[in-house]
Amino acid sequence: MAVLGSSAADLRAAAATLRAGGLVAFPTETVYGLGADASSPQAVAKIFAAKGRPADHPVIVHLASASQLPDWARDIPDVAWALADAFWPGPLTLILKRGPNTPLAVTGGQDTVGVRVPSHPVALELLNEFGGGLAAPSANRFGRVSPTTAAHVVEEFGDDIDYVIDGGACGVGLESTIVDLTAQRARLLRPGGLSREQLAAVLGYEPQSPLANPAPADAPAPSEDIAPRAPGTLESHYAPQTKVVLVDTPHLESRLAAYQSRGATVALLALSETAVASVAGVGGQLRVLEMPPKAEDYAAALYAGLRQADALTCDVIVVERPPAAPAWEAVLDRLSRASA
Ligand code: TXA
Ligand code: MG
Repeated sequence: MAVLGSSAADLRAAAATLRAGGLVAFPTETVYGLGADASSPQAVAKIFAAKGRPADHPVIVHLASASQLPDWARDIPDVAWALADAFWPGPLTLILKRGPNTPLAVTGGQDTVGVRVPSHPVALELLNEFGGGLAAPSANRFGRVSPTTAAHVVEEFGDDIDYVIDGGACGVGLESTIVDLTAQRARLLRPGGLSREQLAAVLGYEPQSPLANPAPADAPAPSEDIAPRAPGTLESHYAPQTKVVLVDTPHLESRLAAYQSRGATVALLALSETAVASVAGVGGQLRVLEMPPKAEDYAAALYAGLRQADALTCDVIVVERPPAAPAWEAVLDRLSRASA
């Protein structure tokens, strides 16, 4: 694959490749996306082939502006426009009813479609140059850690895609928040770059996650109100090759000592000064990556940190568990999946 910059000429080349049905990875404020013409089932099929992703998994359609929503969705509720007004461009994906011209290849065969307007200037320029919608899942192989730099994308795909546009490191670093607006009340399908509180400010209530209150096993299957399939909710998602273990701060020292005594090599993603200090005593086969203390900065550094830890080919990646506070919800979600 060739790496492009973000000059007008480079973006024209990228848009031409997309129009011809090719694959172009591009930066967004959340993670890099693997883009294809969303109106072309053949182009979208190439995304699934490159990722090794099952064809029944829906992909998000990226748009230059909310004004294009009616091209992709039908029966758009007022709340969708209110959320779009408040948070687009930005890290929010809305699940809406599928428009008649939206290929089923994009929606994984479902009658709903995920759409978002990204805020990364290069993504917006590319979308404007291209003109239509770009189907784009995160630009990683199925089940792996999402890429937050162009170099990560090259690592993932080599020559299997046409271009990656280098727009630097992603600012948010975690995927968009996904909100399902196809039922009575908005539901949070995936925590992400936009917090529950921010959504609540516009919705007037906190959106709940479908799994937060699972129906009893003997309850009749919900029909209209069923949660759409969202592979980002598979437990094994976002995982490095190396086993990841989440450990609470007070247990770090003893866990690390236990690994040491077994001769296991450990990469530690440390969050607190306590952790950094306590590992000094353990020594031995231990590599420490210090993570930023603020949730936002931690999120931006997480995927690169996991990749870096993975590249050390230790026996285990130990991650110091961040606090169970709202600001950490998306980070905790990804960490628990990486360690599942
Ligand atoms: O931040 C992001 O959202 C990034 C950037 C590239 O925009 N994209 C991303 O795409 O994370 P992907 O494919 O890795 O994750 C998209 C998630 C999946 O969990 C998918 O199931 C869900 O969105 N999704 C897409 N369309 C859906 C639909 N119609 N119903 C339910 N979930 C949907
Ligand atoms: Mg993904």
